[in-house]
Amino acid sequence: MKIIGTGSALPARQVTNDEISQFLDTGDAWICPRTGIRSRHVISDEQLEDLAVEAAQKALDMAGLGAKDIDFFICSNVVSEHVTPGLSCIIAARMGICCPMIDINCACPGFIYAMDIAETYFQAGKVERVLIVCAEEPSRMTSWEDRSTCVLFGDGAGAAVFTRGDKLKAVKLNAEPAPDKISQYRTLMPTPFVTKEEESTPLLMQGREVFRFAVTTSVRDISELVERCGLTLDQVNWFMIHQANMRIIDAIREGLGVEAERFPTNIADHGNSSSASCPILLDECNRKGMFKPGDVLVFSAFGAGLLSAAAVLEW
Ligand code: COA
Repeated sequence: MKIIGTGSALPARQVTNDEISQFLDTGDAWICPRTGIRSRHVISDEQLEDLAVEAAQKALDMAGLGAKDIDFFICSNVVSEHVTPGLSCIIAARMGICCPMIDINCACPGFIYAMDIAETYFQAGKVERVLIVCAEEPSRMTSWEDRSTCVLFGDGAGAAVFTRGDKLKAVKLNAEPAPDKISQYRTLMPTPFVTKEEESTPLLMQGREVFRFAVTTSVRDISELVERCGLTLDQVNWFMIHQANMRIIDAIREGLGVEAERFPTNIADHGNSSSASCPILLDECNRKGMFKPGDVLVFSAFGAGLLSAAAVLEW
């Protein structure tokens, strides 16, 4: 498959480190050196589907397609206000998309997992045009009284439209199940039968272990995949790394021994937007005209699960 359109959308409200320091015992002096984050976009009046629809529409416009032209729709989302139906159906109803659709919850590597699913459908000859939308609001998962998590995340949506082609060169999906490393629990409706104790929690994270997992798997996934494609790291034009934390991105870059110019970032004013992070970065770079035909892009993402994934895509 190949990409023929990208789009992204961010909430209007941008929250700086200084603003957070007005209600929490933290500040730019701690947050910036440890994460590279100075501000993040946070949902206030919008609904997540507003951002998802905007990102998807921009991607369709770039592709020169209408909603009816899409014959398979994958939505990546960890949490939204809707338990059912899936966010894909909410977005589709707003846009007039009328084709089979699925929702996946693969956390931060969701865009790469979705690309792998799409590629499988293309190879099976089942589809001609696929829309992937990643829409996330992690600001609604964290406790804004927990300085170790709330400062890290930002909200947003990213989208891409794919058609038949041979530009996705390889994908590696990886799982090392450890549900306690990044987790959040919600209670379901009470019944007359449930007697066990249940408790909702905000997002809980073992930060240092997640840091280690992210760096180790990303360096390994990228190295293996690039080699599998018969390429060297020198032949990769752009390393599209999940924007979780600037120190993670720097450690991956140092592990690979690659200079910073080939690692585009937007972490400083976006924060970590989970699965939306990679397609937002992709769209921003695309709209800046950074990619030339034939450029090699390597995606790498890691997060809750623990899951990681990488992909090599020729532009
Ligand atoms: N402001 C001020 N102090 C903070 C703080 C904040 N926002 N967050 C944590 N601290 C404090 C802690 O309370 C702790 O204080 P203590 O020693 O008095 O208990 C101290 O800073 C060190 O905490 P620690 O968790 O050990 O810091 P760290 O150097 O490991 O950095 C992270 C914390 C979260 C930045 C780091 O572990 C990280 O980046 N992990 C990866 C997280 C991530 O990106 N997850 C998503 C992946 S998809």
